Order: sequence, then C-alpha cells, then structure tokens
Amino acid sequence: MRDQKTGRPVLLDCDPGIDDALAIFMALASDELKVEAITTVAGNVPVEHTARNALQLVELAGFDVEVAAGASDPLYSKKKTAESVHGKNGIGDIILNPPKGALSCRTARELIYQKALEQAGDLEIIATGPLTNLASALMIYPDLRNLISHIWLMGGSAYSGNRTPAAEFNIYADPHAASIVFESGIPLTMCGLDVTNKALIFKEDIERLAGYDSDVAKKSAEMLTWYLGFYNSFGFKGLAMHDPFTVAAAIDPTLIETKHLFVDVETVGEFTRGQTVVDLLNVSGKKPNVQVALELDNTRFLSLFEKLMRFYG
Ligand code: RIB
Ligand code: CA
Repeated sequence: MRDQKTGRPVLLDCDPGIDDALAIFMALASDELKVEAITTVAGNVPVEHTARNALQLVELAGFDVEVAAGASDPLYSKKKTAESVHGKNGIGDIILNPPKGALSCRTARELIYQKALEQAGDLEIIATGPLTNLASALMIYPDLRNLISHIWLMGGSAYSGNRTPAAEFNIYADPHAASIVFESGIPLTMCGLDVTNKALIFKEDIERLAGYDSDVAKKSAEMLTWYLGFYNSFGFKGLAMHDPFTVAAAIDPTLIETKHLFVDVETVGEFTRGQTVVDLLNVSGKKPNVQVALELDNTRFLSLFEKLMRFYG
C-alpha cells in the first residue's frame, strides 16, 4: 500500500468513466493533494459500475481511500448515461482485477458531509460527474455550504454543448442538482468545454503512456485507446481530457485563465435544458458566482499529466 499524500484535502465526486479514471490516478499521485475520499454517482454508466470502477482503480493505484456509492438517479429527472462513449462497464470494457476491499458503509452524501466536518472548512471538492451527490448533501446538511472551501467542477460551457447543442453532459444529466450547487455560494471554478475540449491528447501520447513501466499506465493506455476510438469515429484526431484537466487545474490553477461571472443553469428549456448560461458581458447585473475557465495552457497540462502518470513507475 502506498503512503498517503500530505497535500490539500480533497474529495473526488465522479462517474468513472474513462476520463474520470485518469483523473483519479492523477489526484492520487499528486503531492499537492490528499484524496480524503471518493464518492461516485450515476453518470457515464449506472452507479453500480461507477462505484465498482472507482474501487478497482484505487486498488490498482495502490492507495487505501474510502470509496462510497452515491446517487443512482438524478434529483428530479430521468437518468442519462453514456455507454457509447465509455463502454458498457464505464472503463472501455477493460477488465481490472476484482476489488479486494468493500465500498464504504456510508452513503456518498454522508461521506461528503463527514469529511467536510473533519477538515473543518478546508475540504475541496473535485467534481467530474453529475452533481447529484453534492446537491443532495447540501439539501440535507444546511451547514455543509460553510464547510467546503472550493469546488473544482468539470462541467458546463460558455459557448456550446456536447450532449445537446446547448448542454454539457454532467450538467445535462442533472440540471437541478447543478443549479443547487451553482447557487450554493461555495467558491466554484468551472472547467467547462471551453477549456476541456482543448485539453487534447493524441495517439502518440497514448503510445508513450503505454510504454511506461506500470500497470496503471498500461491500463490507462488501454482505456484511452478505447476512448480515442469514440473520438475518431466523429473524425477527431485527439481526445478531450475533460476530467484529468480539471484535476490538473485544481493542482495548478495557473494552468487556466478565469473570469468571475454570473452563471445560471437552465432546468426546463425544450432545447436548452442543462445549459450553463454564462453572463459573459454582465448584462444581468447579477453578482458573479463562478470562476469560469476560458483559456488553458495545454502544453503544461500534458507535462503535468505525464509527470503524474510516471509516479506509478
Ligand atoms: O462532458 C464530459 C463529462 O461528462 C466528463 O466528466 C465525462 O466523464 C462525462 O462525465
Ligand atoms: Ca466524468
């Protein structure tokens, strides 16, 4: 078992998911962070898969981190999944060793709250899936909003969607949950498609990763190869590292340039449900609530990604 890190206390809330898997490996490997717990949510695939995947990924990485299963469905809407993007099991149908350990006996929202209490206001959340767990925890524990120091979110966009023309998947999957989180008053940095669609890696980067001397790197290369196939099928040469980039921004915020803007979430629009409505010109006059990432340094991101993946050998 690897030694625990001693960096900033973070909790990962995720829906592994191929890019979530790489994000988990990066967060565990970083000396800047200490992963206090991982909570999982239905998103790319049902929560039975996302929870099991998270457990297997943490064990493959050699860390002892509590993993909890969370919401199986959005707060008030029908579940959306993305097996076509991530495979039936959520990690490109790659087979990992069955988990040795068990999932936490705590629910995701219990674990979020109790870790926030433990860290007495220093806990940061890195959210890379639908926001159902965080929203329901905020609804059940009214003091939670004062106990989370920062949310780093992969989700939304100022200009375009990927699940619909207007909406990015994580927000689209549970727009009501996203609305609750965006209105919570917790400091929030949104790494939306505006930056993550530019955080691209290519076949040669994956081949380099496959040459690293660790099971983590080799399994990651297999998952990314699957994921690249999805992007190639749409004519894209590279794949977007949505969740890994968000972890990288949490590790090193100089990788992004942000603007403090008012952002609302559309929860009912026939064509725009799940859109993050970003007030780029402050026409609403409403108080900004989100640091929206609009520019990135992809070269330094890729170097950080490779450095963290080399941690595993
Ligand atoms: O839109 C991309 C996001 O949706 C990523 O977090 C991916 O894992 C899926 O959850
Ligand atoms: Ca995700």
